[in-house]
Amino acid sequence: MTLTAVLSIRDLSVSLGGSRILEGVNISLQQGARVALLGESGSGKSMTARAALGILPPHAQVTGLIEVGGVDVTHLPALRRPAHARPAMVMQDSLAALNPIATIGYQLEQPLRRAGATRLGARTAACDLLDRVGLFEPEQVLMRTSPQLSGGQRQRVCIALALACDAPVIIADEATSALDVVTQAQILRLLRDVTSRPGGPGLLFITHDLHAAAHLCDRALVIQGGRVVEDAPMPRIVSAPRHAHTQRLIASAAECGIACERLFA
Ligand SMILES: Nc1ncnc2c1ncn2[C@@H]1O[C@H](COP(=O)(O)OP(=O)(O)OP(=O)(O)O)[C@@H](O)[C@H]1O
Ligand SMILES: [Mg+2]
Repeated sequence: MTLTAVLSIRDLSVSLGGSRILEGVNISLQQGARVALLGESGSGKSMTARAALGILPPHAQVTGLIEVGGVDVTHLPALRRPAHARPAMVMQDSLAALNPIATIGYQLEQPLRRAGATRLGARTAACDLLDRVGLFEPEQVLMRTSPQLSGGQRQRVCIALALACDAPVIIADEATSALDVVTQAQILRLLRDVTSRPGGPGLLFITHDLHAAAHLCDRALVIQGGRVVEDAPMPRIVSAPRHAHTQRLIASAAECGIACERLFA
């Protein structure tokens, strides 16, 4: 079976105000694959996400190639991209990600209506999506606004929105970092479920949390100073890291009591 590359970044370099932020970044993400992007603070993880989403600062100088859903979007900001070439974003701050004065129903139904659903069809589909992301009493949730939900419920709504938009890729940037451990585990399981379904989106999972990444992802890329220094299957990253920087990341996670290699024992 041939897997479709839903996100393909080739030799991407980004400069801002004369400073090189990303240098020769390569990422290939297949449909349904889950890839972690690991690296210390300031290494360029979010900038990579912004490039993929088409939300780089306007003065950014970009070279290389970014394809989403097979479309070359290298120089297309998010709003000028065709709908099927827009990744969905799940951020750490779900309160900021959702419109606080529009109901969840309204926000979920918009992309469904744009895709041709009737009013009733969109409502039914929105309800089904909330059910699929594990929200109880979806009819009630549809009538609420984001400040009336918990952080975990809001992250579920953000994932439902990604599904409503039929996004080929979900980019989760520290999406579970602000959640308590139980909710975090539920959201990780949900991300695994939605990406595992036939035709499910690819996931680029950006995190500081090696433990979460090791549980969820098949592969990991390690970025340092704007360059990808290691790209390997997750079990190999945690059990036999090759690059010195990856070795340091694993060692510091182990110092915090996170023995990742046990996950694969
Ligand atoms: N708008 C901007 N203008 C100029 N430089 C920026 C801008 N935003 C980020 N940077 C710089 O780009 C580099 C990469 O930042 P980025 O936000 O991608 O880091 P990160 O790996 O996501 O870090 P963290 O883990 O702390 O979120 C940093 O050196 C940062 O200072
Ligand atoms: Mg970041």
